[in-house]
Amino acid sequence: PKLFSRWLHAPTQPPSFGIAFDIDGVLLRGETSTGGSPQALRRLYYHSANSCSISALKVPYVFLTNGGGVPESERAKELSKQLGVDILPLQVIQGHTPFRELVKRYEDDLIVAVGKGEPGRVMSEYGFKNVLSIDDYASCFPNIDPLAQYKKWTKMQPTDREMALRTDPCSQRVQAVFIVSDPVDWSRDIQVLCDILRTGGLPGQEIAHQPPLFFANDDIAYQALFPAERLGMGAFRIALESIFNRIHTNNMEYTSYGKPNPFVFKNAENVLLQVLQSAYNNIQSSGEMQPFKRLYMIGDNPSVDINGAKQAGHPWVSILTRTGVFKGIGNHADYPADLVVNSVEEAVDYILRKEH
Ligand code: G3P
Ligand code: MG
Repeated sequence: PKLFSRWLHAPTQPPSFGIAFDIDGVLLRGETSTGGSPQALRRLYYHSANSCSISALKVPYVFLTNGGGVPESERAKELSKQLGVDILPLQVIQGHTPFRELVKRYEDDLIVAVGKGEPGRVMSEYGFKNVLSIDDYASCFPNIDPLAQYKKWTKMQPTDREMALRTDPCSQRVQAVFIVSDPVDWSRDIQVLCDILRTGGLPGQEIAHQPPLFFANDDIAYQALFPAERLGMGAFRIALESIFNRIHTNNMEYTSYGKPNPFVFKNAENVLLQVLQSAYNNIQSSGEMQPFKRLYMIGDNPSVDINGAKQAGHPWVSILTRTGVFKGIGNHADYPADLVVNSVEEAVDYILRKEH
């Protein structure tokens, strides 16, 4: 059916361009679509197609977000519902997606995963075998958070899993910490992370060498539903780092992933080729695939999305929308985009006019 559908819709050459969409502040605000995003995405499929699925995909695209908290397969399902098109897990690149490359280094080591959603499950699905979410980890240490009793939202009864964990009261050394998504309980997380980092991964014990610390992104702010932007993982990093550096002799060492790192854009380019290959697989094999002439990054954050696309260089072209972090009238002064538009719908309209 795939072959037939492709033949029916497009006996043409695969396109020499692709699109990377930022999510927060471009396609969604909170859980709600923004900027005409469902209509914009639908235009990337053949009109004659009954459904917007990969076999009817005309223009290869990916989601390139610094956000996360659930596995890519689940995010693909959520996005499909929110945006009304069939999205493959391959098309979803989250801030923490590159953490999978670190599996070999920490495969059997105890690691702690921090953030909203299910950071532990994200890491287990990548193949880390000995991962605890910071919720489960903190519950191994009675009284580690002296404010817990005032946090009306926290469950006081330990779950069976937590009880099982407590039989081995986390006597193992934490070998690495991963901030997978935006931390929820900053006061508890800063406390527990300072404990882990200062003691070489054994809270309550002697000072020792800091274990490696990885952040999925370094966004100071991002656009959610509230009119003004909200503090992101970069703001949490600054808070943790300032406190850690005051109470510890050595400065906090860490590595941040996500945009604007150029390797994120290089990886997105490879993924876009794979998407093109899945959509057009009866036309050309990957060996014959031509490199892209242009790749468009549509983002709302000048210092992250636009800066990243600019640093990545050819074939990236940057388009800045006014639906998120950037709300200016002209272009951004420090990180001017190749094009500024009001919405993602306008951005896609521009791209399709230019490329056809
Ligand atoms: O928490 C998400 C935020 O930091 C950025 O998401 O989609 O704008 O890269 P996005
Ligand atoms: Mg954004």
